[in-house]
Amino acid sequence: MPAVKPDTSPFTPGQPVSEDLFVGRLEQVRDLLRKARSAASGRLSVAFLTGERGIGKTSLAQFASQVAQEEQGLLPLHVVVGNSGTPEEMVRRTLDRLARVARTEPWWRRVSGLFGERIETVGRFSFQVRFRPKPDELSYLTEHFDLVLRNIGRELPEEVRGLHIVLDDINGLADSPDFARWLKTFVDTVAVEGERFPVCLLLAGTEQVRRKLVSHHESVARILDLVHLAPWSEEEGHDFFRQAFQSAGMELTEPALRLAARFSGGLPALAHEIGDAIFRAASGPSVSDQEVRLGIVSATHVVGNRHVAVQVFERIRSGRYRSLLRSIPKLTPTGRFRRKELLERLEPTSRKGFDNFLREMVKLGVLERRLAAGPGEYRFVQNLHFLYFLSEAIRGGGPSPARRIADVR
Ligand SMILES: Nc1ncnc2c1ncn2[C@@H]1O[C@H](COP(=O)(O)OP(=O)(O)O)[C@@H](O)[C@H]1O
Ligand SMILES: [Mg+2]
Repeated sequence: MPAVKPDTSPFTPGQPVSEDLFVGRLEQVRDLLRKARSAASGRLSVAFLTGERGIGKTSLAQFASQVAQEEQGLLPLHVVVGNSGTPEEMVRRTLDRLARVARTEPWWRRVSGLFGERIETVGRFSFQVRFRPKPDELSYLTEHFDLVLRNIGRELPEEVRGLHIVLDDINGLADSPDFARWLKTFVDTVAVEGERFPVCLLLAGTEQVRRKLVSHHESVARILDLVHLAPWSEEEGHDFFRQAFQSAGMELTEPALRLAARFSGGLPALAHEIGDAIFRAASGPSVSDQEVRLGIVSATHVVGNRHVAVQVFERIRSGRYRSLLRSIPKLTPTGRFRRKELLERLEPTSRKGFDNFLREMVKLGVLERRLAAGPGEYRFVQNLHFLYFLSEAIRGGGPSPARRIADVR
């Protein structure tokens, strides 16, 4: 082992993970590869990748695209849809992405003919291109997107066997019924035409977003194959920390690895924050348990500032609500609870207005009802929030948060 710790952290909070640190997800990768193979053989494949924020949807989609390219020759187009809310804008972004990806390819000349005059170069050296069709052209392209993709397919060289399109973070699209209708028509038209259509279309978003999309058009549920990402098992979390620190030539004790894995709750986003904080707290390549605890404590600050503050605190004014949010994880170790039971365990002063609190939290998307589990059953929508409030609860009070974190089992 080297005597000093390396300069750069192996963790990448907020960035898609590199291939050599990609942990778990074997089953989902296999599933996505089967779809890619089916697409490469000429059959349109449409799937929805669900899972909470920070669980690794973008990373998995990129990883799968990469393998689909290497193994099946599908050209990856990763389109960040975000809040843009119309099928037209989705189509524009997809073609824009194609132009950017293909720009430096020897076959670009053939494909660029299809874009006509609507490709603009950006910047003095024209490294960047942008697709800017007129509104009526864009409506036409959206309506005939199946034809557009077919025509593009014809101009691609032989080694490019099809397209692997990822529509990432489709929150905005799911809001309006237009996209659901568009998707259904697109899939039906491709099926009716019956010709080869070597395209894999992978949508990604949270389960809430998927449900919203399906609610606009019930038959959309039937055309979407589901791929779900659950939190890592504790074993996978453990592997992640071991591999990452090992790659940096650093070593943690076995209990410290377990503690870090337990605190990340199987959420890759949180695992990277915790790993990065431990890296910063470490004074040398051999990391002490105390440094690991310090890292975990400081990671919860980072998570609070970066994620929870934006998603929750900026929308809650009431200090009482915040302290109620912190008290739930202390009383319910799983983040799931029955209203009546929790109410009984709360301090009498916190009980007043509890139902208003619940209603408000459901409206904000912090808590949700577990309808299948029965009336009065709730849980945190995002594991990240639950883990954050749990560590807040542990940190609040007592002289040494690091000690108290060490006591969590
Ligand atoms: N399989 C994985 N192995 C290691 N790190 C991962 C994995 N999946 C995601 N991550 C990391 O977790 C964080 C969140 O991942 P991301 O793909 O952006 O999640 P999502 O798109 O679901 O919000 C990123 O920092 C990413 O590097
Ligand atoms: Mg993402």
